[in-house]
Amino acid sequence: MTELTQETLSELQVLAEAALTSSTNLDELSAAEAEALGKKSALTGLKKQLGGLEPEQRKEFGQLINATKSAIEATAAARRTELAQAARLVQLEEERLDLTELREEVKRGHYHLVTQARDRLEDVFVAMGFKVAEGPEVETAWYNFEALNIPDWHPARGSFDTIFVDLGEPEEVMLRSHTSPVQIRTMENQKPPIYIVAPGRTFRTDVADATHLPAFNQIEGLVIDRGITLGDLAGTIDAFVKAFFGHDVLTRLRPSYFPFTEPSAEFDISRADGSWLELGGCGMVHPNVLANCGIDPDEWQGFAFGFGIDRLAVMRYQLDDIRELVNNDVRFLRQF
Ligand code: DAH
Repeated sequence: MTELTQETLSELQVLAEAALTSSTNLDELSAAEAEALGKKSALTGLKKQLGGLEPEQRKEFGQLINATKSAIEATAAARRTELAQAARLVQLEEERLDLTELREEVKRGHYHLVTQARDRLEDVFVAMGFKVAEGPEVETAWYNFEALNIPDWHPARGSFDTIFVDLGEPEEVMLRSHTSPVQIRTMENQKPPIYIVAPGRTFRTDVADATHLPAFNQIEGLVIDRGITLGDLAGTIDAFVKAFFGHDVLTRLRPSYFPFTEPSAEFDISRADGSWLELGGCGMVHPNVLANCGIDPDEWQGFAFGFGIDRLAVMRYQLDDIRELVNNDVRFLRQF
């Protein structure tokens, strides 16, 4: 039997504390604690020897045993706190959610370049005092041709390569072949002065090639007011071209023919190499067109113009092939 001495108690304490502090988890700690303080522990064994001691010694060793027990208990409690903290950190680490994926840059799309071109055109014209007007994509012969001074016998009808819709009389309903019918609809519904632009989809029987699409976009302009002259037309076109393409781009009008304008012109813009590029048609609104819409040609004058937005995008971004605009290849579209 181990003798109850001060040395024995200090030895027991050192051993017990070493076992407690070297335990690596709560189970090991509890085992070490039971070993040091439990019913079968050496300390409990020594305590039983107190009964055989003289009262003086019993008191002294009783206090010593209690002090040893308290010291071991304090060490166990401190180690328990340490291990619990470590276990908590491990748990936090394990339960951590990896949200880094969400912080990755989200790749957003953007407007198609034709839409961008249309929006910019609208902005430029709105800044010049124009309003944006709209008309239907399916039209009747009246709006697409007749009211625009193109009667059914007129040779210009053939040049429009119209896609007809199988509705009503033959060649009575069609996909609009230009945005000019919006001129008529606007003049029917509004009193002058009128300052509008009308962007929209237009359709012709063209087979798609590098410079043609069967479904394309135009923008129409119409101004009706008092005392409007060809100079206003030329100035408006020059102002819009400079706002859209830049201030060193020049414009010119070349005499041409359209049934709905008189005089008529085509307008060109200058290229860096000094050559000219045709952009669209324009002219002073024909008196017959004004009269068809109930506007007195003696009181009101105006000009109109129209051109392709897709072609404009092709020019602005120097594309090789207009079909790129409808191939829907994101690798191409992402660039703009
Ligand atoms: N509508 C014509 C076309 O598609 C373009 C045009 C020419 C529009 C002259 C106009 C204009 O408003 O005055 O070919």
